[in-house]
Amino acid sequence: MAIAHDGKSRTNNANLLKWVDEVVALCQPDKVEWADGSQEEYDRLCQLMVDGGTFTRLNPEKRPNSYLARSHPSDVARVEDRTYICSESKDDAGPTNNWAPPAEMRATLKERFTGCMRGRTMYIIPFSMGPIGSPIAQIGIEITDSAYVVVNMRIMTRIGTKVLDALGSDGFYVPCVHSVGAPLTPGQKDVPWPCEPEISRKAIVHFPETYEIWSYGSGYGGNALLGKKCLALRIASVMARDQGWLAEHMLILGLESPEGEKTYVAAAFPSACGKTNLAMIVPPEGFGKWKALTVGDDIAWIKPRPDGTLRAINPEAGFFGVAPGTSYDSNPMAMESIKANCIFTNVVLTDDGDVWWEGMGVEPPAHGIDWHGNDWTPDSGKPGAHPNSRFTAPAAQCPTIDPAWEDPEGVPISAFIFGGRLSKTFPLVYQAFDWNHGVFMAATMGSEATAAAIGQEAIRRDPFAMLPFCGYNMADYWAHWIKIGKTPGLKLPQMFRTNWFRKDANGKFAWPGFGQNLRVLEWIVKRTNGKVGAVESSFGYMPRFEDLDLNGLDFTKGQFDAITSISRAEAASEIEEIKGFFDKFGAKLPPELEKQRQEFGARVSKAPEVWRAETA
Ligand code: GTP
Ligand code: SPV
Ligand code: MN
Repeated sequence: MAIAHDGKSRTNNANLLKWVDEVVALCQPDKVEWADGSQEEYDRLCQLMVDGGTFTRLNPEKRPNSYLARSHPSDVARVEDRTYICSESKDDAGPTNNWAPPAEMRATLKERFTGCMRGRTMYIIPFSMGPIGSPIAQIGIEITDSAYVVVNMRIMTRIGTKVLDALGSDGFYVPCVHSVGAPLTPGQKDVPWPCEPEISRKAIVHFPETYEIWSYGSGYGGNALLGKKCLALRIASVMARDQGWLAEHMLILGLESPEGEKTYVAAAFPSACGKTNLAMIVPPEGFGKWKALTVGDDIAWIKPRPDGTLRAINPEAGFFGVAPGTSYDSNPMAMESIKANCIFTNVVLTDDGDVWWEGMGVEPPAHGIDWHGNDWTPDSGKPGAHPNSRFTAPAAQCPTIDPAWEDPEGVPISAFIFGGRLSKTFPLVYQAFDWNHGVFMAATMGSEATAAAIGQEAIRRDPFAMLPFCGYNMADYWAHWIKIGKTPGLKLPQMFRTNWFRKDANGKFAWPGFGQNLRVLEWIVKRTNGKVGAVESSFGYMPRFEDLDLNGLDFTKGQFDAITSISRAEAASEIEEIKGFFDKFGAKLPPELEKQRQEFGARVSKAPEVWRAETA
C-alpha cells in the first residue's frame, strides 16, 4: 500500500482494512483520512470548503453555524438514467431498472475509478443507518473524495468512531465507494464544485447480490450521500427481501388522539409529492385536538417483531428537503428545523448573508446571488433558487420530533398510506378491503408530472413510490409484500390510498390539503380501530360526508362530493391502463394482483355512472 493512514489504530476489522487498502490503490488519493464524526472535524472541513470556495458561511446572526453551497449546473438532481442495478440476471433487475452485466460494469468502474482521486483527500466515513446498535439498523462505510459528502453525511446519518466500535472486528458493513470523478494534476487549482460534467460518464451502480455500491461523477444528494437512496432503499430493499422485512420510501408519523392514544402510520408518496409536509403536519386552526409527531420524512425500515407488530425506524438522522415552496404557511416545522446548523444547496444568497427561495413566504430580497452564483433581482425573470434546491437539517431540530424517534426497537405501524398526485378519477381517501387489495392499490399508484398535463397525459406509474429505488424486479417486490401479509401471527396494518391533488373544473386543487389533511388522518386512525363509519365503493371503503370531521372548515357536501365521487368511465379506463402496465412484468406478475384487477373491474361494471358516498 502506497499511502500511510491510521486505520489500524481505529479498527481491527481485517475485512475493512483490506478493502480500504484496495480502494486506496485503485483511486490513488494524495491523502487518506478516517472521519471520527466530531464537531471539530465538521468545523474544520466546513472551513476548508469556505477557503476553497465550495461553501459560503451564512450570517451567524441570521443562520448560525450554517453554510450555502452551489453545485455545478450539470449536477443538480439524481440521474435515474445513469443509475444501474447490476444483478447477474437482467430479469432480476426487471423492466423498470437500468441493467448492465456485472462483469462489464466492473470493467467500466475499474476504468473510471483508476486514479480518480489523484490530488485529493480520500475520506473514510463509517456510518450507521438507524440508531447505533438497533436490531433494525445497518452499518455502511462510504469512501469518498468529497468533503461536502462528509459533512452532509454527518447530518443525515450517524457517523464516526462510535460506528467502528459497533462494527467490531468482524461485523458486517455495506461497502460504498464514491468519487466526484475530477482528479487534479499536480499544481492544478480545484473548482468549487468538482464533478464529471459529462452525464454519460456518471454512474450510480448497485450490485444487489454482493450488497455493494459504486458511485462516480456526481456530488449531489441521492447520487453521493450513499446511505440514503443507494443503501437505505436500493440495497436495503434487496436485504429486506432476503431477510423478510421492508425498506420503503415512506415517512413515519405519530398521531395522538384527544384521549391520548398514540397511533403510528407510514406513508409512501413519490418524490416531490409532500412526504416532508405530511411528516411535519401541524393541526390546523379549529382542529387542535389531535397531536402529530415526526419520526421520519423519507425512508422507513420496517420489521416484523416477536410481539407480532410491524415496527419501523427512520434510518436517517436528518432531513434532505426541497427548499422551494417551504414556508411558515406550507411547513412551519421544517422552517423551525432549518434555523441553524444547516447546509443549503442551490438557493439564493441574500445581501445580508441569509438564504431565500421561491415560495418561502417572505418578500424576495431586492438583490441577491442566484444558485448559479450570479447577481439576481426579483425582476430578472428566472428563479433564483434551483427547483430541486435542498436543505440538510438535523432531525433532532424539528420541534415536533417524536420522543420515540430514536427508539432502537422502532415504532409499531398501524396503517400504510399511499398517495400520488392525481388531478382526477381518484378519491380523497379510501381503504383497502384486505392486505392484497392494499398491495394492488400501492402497486398501481400513479402520479402526474405537471399541472399542464391535466387529464391529458397518461399517468406515470410509481409503484409504492419506489420506481427509482427498488433494487430488484418490481414484480418480485410485489410478491414480497404479498408474502409479508401471510406471516403467521403478524398483526397486519390497514392499507389506505389518499389523493390531496384532485382538481375542480377550474383546474384548482379542490381539497385545501396541508394541515387539513389531519382530518383525513383522523378518519384513517379511527378506521384502524373500527371507531368510525365507512361505505363500500368500487375503489374501497370510503368515508361519508358525516364520517369526516370537517368542523371549522368551510367545506360543503357539494365540495366533498367533488373530491370523492367516482366516474364509472374513468375507473374503467384506469383498469385498462393497469392491464398495459402489468403486461410489462410478464410471468413474474403475482397472480394475486391480476385477480385484484379483475375484481376491481367487476365492481366497477356494477357501479352507477357516477358513484357518491351518500347513495351507497
Ligand atoms: P422527496 O424529498 O423528493 O422524496 O419529496 P417529498 O415527498 O418529501 O416531497 P416535498 O415535500 O418536496 O413535496 C412538496 C410538494 O408537495 C409541493 O409542491 C407541495 O405544494 C405539495 N404538497 C404537499 N402537501 C400538499 C397538499 O396537501 N396539497 C397540495 N395540493 N399540495 C401539497
Ligand atoms: C428523492 O428524490 O426522493 C429525494 C432526494 O428524497 S434524493 O436524496 O436526492 O434522492
Ligand atoms: Mn425521497
